[in-house]
Amino acid sequence: MTSTRTQGDHDLVVVANRLPVDRVVGEDGETTWRRSPGGLVTALEPIIQQYDGAWVGWDGGSDGPEEPLEQGGMHLFPVALSPQEIEEFYEGFSNGTLWPLYHDVVAKPGFHREWWDSYVTVNRRFAERAAAEAADKALVWVQDYQLQLVPAMLRELRPDLRIGFFLHIPFPPSELFVQLPWRSQILEGLLGADLVGFQRRGGAQNFVRLVRQRLGHKTHKDLIYLEDGRTVAAECFPISIDVAELEKLSVSDPVAERAQQIRSQLGEPRKLLLGVDRLDYTKGIYDRLRAFGELLEEGALSVEDAVFVQVATPSRERVDEYRRLRDEIDRLVGRINGDLGRIGRPAISYLHSSYPRDEMAALYRAADIMVVTPLRDGMNLVAKEYVACRHRDDGALVLSEFAGAADELKQAFMVNPYDINGMKAAILEAVDAPPKDLTKRMKAMRKTVRSHDVSDWAEEFIGMLKQARPDHRKRLRPSKLLA
Ligand code: ADP
Ligand code: G6P
Repeated sequence: MTSTRTQGDHDLVVVANRLPVDRVVGEDGETTWRRSPGGLVTALEPIIQQYDGAWVGWDGGSDGPEEPLEQGGMHLFPVALSPQEIEEFYEGFSNGTLWPLYHDVVAKPGFHREWWDSYVTVNRRFAERAAAEAADKALVWVQDYQLQLVPAMLRELRPDLRIGFFLHIPFPPSELFVQLPWRSQILEGLLGADLVGFQRRGGAQNFVRLVRQRLGHKTHKDLIYLEDGRTVAAECFPISIDVAELEKLSVSDPVAERAQQIRSQLGEPRKLLLGVDRLDYTKGIYDRLRAFGELLEEGALSVEDAVFVQVATPSRERVDEYRRLRDEIDRLVGRINGDLGRIGRPAISYLHSSYPRDEMAALYRAADIMVVTPLRDGMNLVAKEYVACRHRDDGALVLSEFAGAADELKQAFMVNPYDINGMKAAILEAVDAPPKDLTKRMKAMRKTVRSHDVSDWAEEFIGMLKQARPDHRKRLRPSKLLA
């Protein structure tokens, strides 16, 4: 296989399944752009703006145009997906196989050969687009589980590049990963990078163990030695948020006023509890609301003085598991409100839509208790966003020990999200905690979040990638996957 050396002029290229904006075509045929959902975009947007880099990604629609565009000071390079690829690559292999497999198999992954074929095809398209936009010896930073084959494919096309990969979701224990019929191809795909980053230390260790056991490579600590002389580093880089941006927003007068208004519209509750999640079965929304409902039923809390605001952004709505989840939560909220609400006093205020950043900041400011209870989560930026918005060092965070954020936010009220009684006890503890205790906890968590924001995360990753040894002139042996 000969390498194709078409070349662009960008020194930093981010490659992610999604562009930071979605293309929305209205009924009148007019195109508008809407911010894409999820933590990946939240984290990378400020970085790409700072570095004046290029962003290669999908625009969220089918068969969209591939002309480059400028949005929010970013150079965007769309990759088109056909309706069949959306079904097989995005909804299928990415979100019906990898997503549940990498999140502790909390839903059953589907293993379908046609989904895999589509994953290979689409990954190759992303690699070709990145190869065309990157300048000589550029840094290319590939993101997340949808694009794990891109590093090796890109190296085939452009051996001059320094290639990084970051996995935003958990990397599973080897006992689960080995279920995947295409486990070796995924590992080989990732090994095309010079640096493979994970949210938690355990993820990096799982990966190194797997390449040693399954592919027979020599390893030492975080390093993997390949037969062609290249070394790949596997490291953990816990992701963060743009703390300064959120702090600025949260102390602004309009946000303070809006936070007041939210509380008064909810009838000035003594305690406002808040959940903010994509509507995803990994987020533990169902059991969290059940726990709150039981506290009301038992009289430990009452709708006269406590309300739960649950914001659940629609997500992956054509995937069966997501549809089922939406129906189940709709039913649960209906039941709890029907049984326990009073006129003008719903138990749960359920909002099924997406909001601008200032509205999110107002919600965080308005909430006395933030309840973040994923069954498994790579990091969970919402937990960090809440902490960043509590400039008065008040408020309480109830946090799942299975979120990456639990490694850092140690002063949260920690819960096992599978233990409903434990969750109820933690919520009550947060409700009744003396203000002094809350201040002590929040102060410590704010210090942690401020000490490591998203630009530190990116600097550390990019800094380490820049040091990758320039021995890329050596061609990789074409793997079976790429031949
Ligand atoms: P995930 O990446 O799995 O969706 P995270 O908690 O890491 O979970 O990141 C979610 C991001 O999406 C956060 O930045 C959060 O503020 C944002 N977000 C979540 N729900 C909404 C919503 N309804 N409207 C606007 N932004 C949202
Ligand atoms: C998580 C994933 C991202 C993904 C986001 C939104 O944050 O790690 O890769 O983009 O969820 O999901 P979606 O399927 O809408 O892109």
